[in-house]
Amino acid sequence: MIKLSDVSKSYARSGVKAIDGLSLEARNGEIFGFLGPNGAGKTTTIKIVTGVLAPDSGRASLDGIDVVSEPMEAKRRLGYVSDNPEVFSKLRAWEYLNFVADVYGVPTALRQERVARYAGMLEIKDALDAQIGSFSHGMKQKLQVTASLIHDPSNWILDEPMVGLDPMAAFRLKELMRARADEGKTVFFSTHVMEVAERVCDRLAIISKGRIIFQGTLEELRSTRGSDGTLENLFLQLVDDEGADGAEAVPNGGGAK
Ligand SMILES: Nc1ncnc2c1ncn2[C@@H]1O[C@H](COP(=O)(O)OP(=O)(O)OP(=O)(O)O)[C@@H](O)[C@H]1O
Ligand SMILES: [Mg+2]
Repeated sequence: MIKLSDVSKSYARSGVKAIDGLSLEARNGEIFGFLGPNGAGKTTTIKIVTGVLAPDSGRASLDGIDVVSEPMEAKRRLGYVSDNPEVFSKLRAWEYLNFVADVYGVPTALRQERVARYAGMLEIKDALDAQIGSFSHGMKQKLQVTASLIHDPSNWILDEPMVGLDPMAAFRLKELMRARADEGKTVFFSTHVMEVAERVCDRLAIISKGRIIFQGTLEELRSTRGSDGTLENLFLQLVDDEGADGAEAVPNGGGAK
């Protein structure tokens, strides 16, 4: 379970208030989609939940554990695929995976089994002896996905994970997301691909200018808009309305407090 309560964050460098009183909840057993235009605050929100950035105010927790006051305990429950797959280019892929498994204290047999499963599914198993610097963008992403699951986290957070993946890998990734949610874990991902969000998400949130303008199921979104349109149409309408009538956020569509 991932929960943010009234979280705000400004960047000192640009003075931009990237996140403004944001609250959301992604529950156990669901795939939660996080949608919003470029610069809306998705990556900033994800960096707060993963402990990369500290919030200015408000609270973020994983399975009820505060990410600021109990960072180690929170990180144990977190697998994170960032929007940038660049990691340790001088290491061989196996060395990197062993390093991550060591950090989380995953026993040898388990790490081998998990790497075989995920790297096998994503078809990078045969490349694991090579240096990461020699990998294509998509291969680095697949490695990051494999590394993010090595400790079998209860919360899996992915920032635009489909970008740069080939169709088979994107399909397998979606299967993995579904399987983990079906096991009762939480899967939270940002995307610009409305068709993916429409097909994959159990619930979703739409963020615009640092505020949540909708949170709930696609059916709830349709009913609040009185429309049976596609998610793409609903998204465009909602973000357009938000731009037109200023900064006031629309209340949640049946989502969390
Ligand atoms: N390191 C930074 N320093 C200063 N401002 C930043 C920084 N990172 C993001 N911002 C600003 O914060 C706001 C939110 O950015 P963020 O990266 O969270 O958006 P996003 O929703 O992930 O966008 P995208 O869809 O393009 O990935 C933007 O106005 C951006 O300019
Ligand atoms: Mg982003």
